[in-house]
Amino acid sequence: MITPHGGTLVSRIVPADERHAFAEYASTLPVFDLNAREASDLLLIAIGAMSPLEGFMRRDEYEAVLDRMRLPSGVPWSLPLTLAAPKAALRGLRAPFAAALRSDGRIVGVILVEDVYAPDKTREARAALGTDDDKHPGVQYLKSTGDVYLGGKVWMIERSKAGAFEAHERDPHETRALFAEKKWHRVCAFQTRNPIHRAHEYLIKCALETMDGFLIHPAMGETKSDDVPAVARMECYLALTQHYFPASHVSLSVFPYAMRYAGPKEAILHALLRKNYGCSHFIVGRDHAGVGNYYGTYDAQRIFSQFEPGELGITPVFFEHSFYCQRCGGMASEKTCPHPATDRVTLSGTKVREMLTAGSPLPEEFTRREVSDILERYYAGAKSA
Ligand code: ADX
Repeated sequence: MITPHGGTLVSRIVPADERHAFAEYASTLPVFDLNAREASDLLLIAIGAMSPLEGFMRRDEYEAVLDRMRLPSGVPWSLPLTLAAPKAALRGLRAPFAAALRSDGRIVGVILVEDVYAPDKTREARAALGTDDDKHPGVQYLKSTGDVYLGGKVWMIERSKAGAFEAHERDPHETRALFAEKKWHRVCAFQTRNPIHRAHEYLIKCALETMDGFLIHPAMGETKSDDVPAVARMECYLALTQHYFPASHVSLSVFPYAMRYAGPKEAILHALLRKNYGCSHFIVGRDHAGVGNYYGTYDAQRIFSQFEPGELGITPVFFEHSFYCQRCGGMASEKTCPHPATDRVTLSGTKVREMLTAGSPLPEEFTRREVSDILERYYAGAKSA
């Protein structure tokens, strides 16, 4: 089984027999509220998906990541992982101190704050996202958060799985156990934030031909407001896996992660996190984790060459832009199809949303009927709500 990033799978969940005392202690501490992304990040740190990180970044980690795409230890890491707070909330507090972390009105964890620092968010945006344009959702996020960052190790009080898709919530130690039980050595992960369409299915099937198993791993934390919500997407993933993939080789699991839309640097982060889940390979197609026209179609593939072979410890599997070709009578890409654009069915995300909002059916060459039925129902419901 592949080694976790940095060598050891982190666990920052309070042991069950200490939970009660820990929660009592947390109730005596100053409280900081987590937004949706920070709450996802706390969970991902706690379950080891962010290994080797044990908490939100201190300034030395943050600067090293922005400057060199590495942690101070030299281990590759591509994006900051930060906890923001309004400066006023720090009044009377000096690091080191402990604070309780609250999400949706509940105390969910504790941070041992070692470092409080004021980031230069314009620099962060340029270095992490490649732009400081206000229209970029990642820039909007940075502007929406407090002006200081708190760095230090965290503890999560309880890991409860109570979501609608509980059966599909698997933490890194659980996907690792699953792969071991199934004797999958070459395991490829597929990241997605969109309803699954034929091009996604094609990429997965092409890669699966040379793998032992596959982890379909949709990001189910916060996405931008015009992305299809997680619950509707999950129904699509379930329908596709049920009808078009053999359970013997494909597992569908929730990835409780909030999208950054950081394109290339996010592709690296996505790969490192999947390594922690025990995957040996990771698919990167066209404009991975992109938004608008901020990144070139294959920038998220090219960035992998900035690391020495073996440094990342997970192998990217690159795919060209793929589409359905009427003349080929199947899915293809520029590499495998000689026919002109007029024979090809390609739809942008915006076009798909427009069609669904207008109630026009999606072509079967683009989306499987079982999936488009779910999307059509969801959009009809959203319109009448
Ligand atoms: S992402 O933000 O998670 O990257 P999306 O869910 O659309 O968005 O894509 C999931 C994966 O499929 C990414 O690796 C992306 O590059 C790839 N992908 C999506 N559509 C295509 C396509 N038509 N051709 C090739 N790769 C694609």
